[in-house]
Amino acid sequence: MKISQQNFAQRRQALMAQMEPGSVAIVPSAKELTRNRDVEYPFRQNSDFYYLTGFNEPDAMLVLIPGRSDGEVVLFCRDRDPEMEIWNGYRAGPRGAENQYGIQQAFANDVMDEEIQNLLDGRIRLYYSIGSSDDFDRQVQDWLRGLRAKARNGAVAPGELVMLDPLLHELRLFKDDEEQDLMRAAGRISAEAHVRAMQICKPGMAEYQLEAEISHHFAMNGCRLPAYSSIVGGGENACVLHYTENQDLLNAGDLVLIDAGCELDYYAGDITRTFPVSGRFSDEQKAVYELVLKVQKACIDAVKPGVLWDRIHELSVELLTEGLVELGLLKGEPAELIESGAYKAFYMHRIGHWLGMDVHDVGNYKVDGDWRPLEPGMVMTVEPGIYISPQNEQVEARWRGIGVRIEDDVLVTVDGCENLTDGVPKEVAEIEALMASQVI
Ligand code: GLY
Ligand code: MN
Ligand code: MN
Repeated sequence: MKISQQNFAQRRQALMAQMEPGSVAIVPSAKELTRNRDVEYPFRQNSDFYYLTGFNEPDAMLVLIPGRSDGEVVLFCRDRDPEMEIWNGYRAGPRGAENQYGIQQAFANDVMDEEIQNLLDGRIRLYYSIGSSDDFDRQVQDWLRGLRAKARNGAVAPGELVMLDPLLHELRLFKDDEEQDLMRAAGRISAEAHVRAMQICKPGMAEYQLEAEISHHFAMNGCRLPAYSSIVGGGENACVLHYTENQDLLNAGDLVLIDAGCELDYYAGDITRTFPVSGRFSDEQKAVYELVLKVQKACIDAVKPGVLWDRIHELSVELLTEGLVELGLLKGEPAELIESGAYKAFYMHRIGHWLGMDVHDVGNYKVDGDWRPLEPGMVMTVEPGIYISPQNEQVEARWRGIGVRIEDDVLVTVDGCENLTDGVPKEVAEIEALMASQVI
């Protein structure tokens, strides 16, 4: 399953349609990153660049020039190199980029400095992601300086530098049919991996062994890498929000929190489930879990077009705070505990985030200073949690060290939302039944 070439072309057209007349946009690819000595991290293309090209090589740059008669879509990329290709694999080269990726004019990188100045010459406005990379900022400045130095020969450097992100990221925020299909598949594969982890979990296993089961399922289903480092936190490790060490043993009687999602052709899943290592919740674990679950389901029910983004978060704060008071974990009036921020001792993050090519995806949450309403085509996570610090002496000892988060991915539809990750159970009875079956 992949985004079609026709779709990549439509995205470029949609972006160019929003650019000012006489303007140019440049989008660099990612670079390879050294891990140690001559070993690199697995290459992952820059999401903006991939969104517009589908081109998966490092050291490339897209230039969009609406109205240019010799081609509006220009790419710089690595040249073919038989020697390097023996060592490091196939390169498309400029001709391959033109033939396979719908690029109208492609150049090898060794002529970039000269050709880019020709392309920028006479353009009024230059869009790019200013400040994302010091190296790239410097490179753009060098090109502009080079152009200004040729002013007496008639060269004119762009006079306006404008952030590309608002235009491009607004496009990325709304997922079209192909993207929705990919995200449904990413959600399904991620959900299956969580089911596998529940089925295989036993006291005495290491957190990294559960992580390995998840990674295995992702890779066996076409997702070589997760969308982010998987979190597998047993016991009080669940209270560390971005715990990724995954080194401890899982103890009978503890919960384990798994936050993991696959990346399928550049689209992320992002699921959290929390379940008992030995298959049965204790009374305290169940009480906290049932509260988080009630809040998560109420928040998903509230997701529909027209509802303000922040309203879903406010709802989670209201319901969690009321529930924490009912359990005796917070004392006082819910309204005052919200006003004072006392609930943040237990719930210190927000209800969710946009989801797409990046796990914390691009797109503004406010427009003209106001929280934006949800609209069909947006995908977001809904992930309330309660984390009771092992050091919290305000609560009885029996509660300390319990951490619960439940996270699903939802697509906003015309009349509500579609849960993309409902393939993994979250009701207490369902989880306990699944774990009791131990089919693996
Ligand atoms: N996995 C990161 C998050 O849920 O935001
Ligand atoms: Mn998330
Ligand atoms: Mn997550």
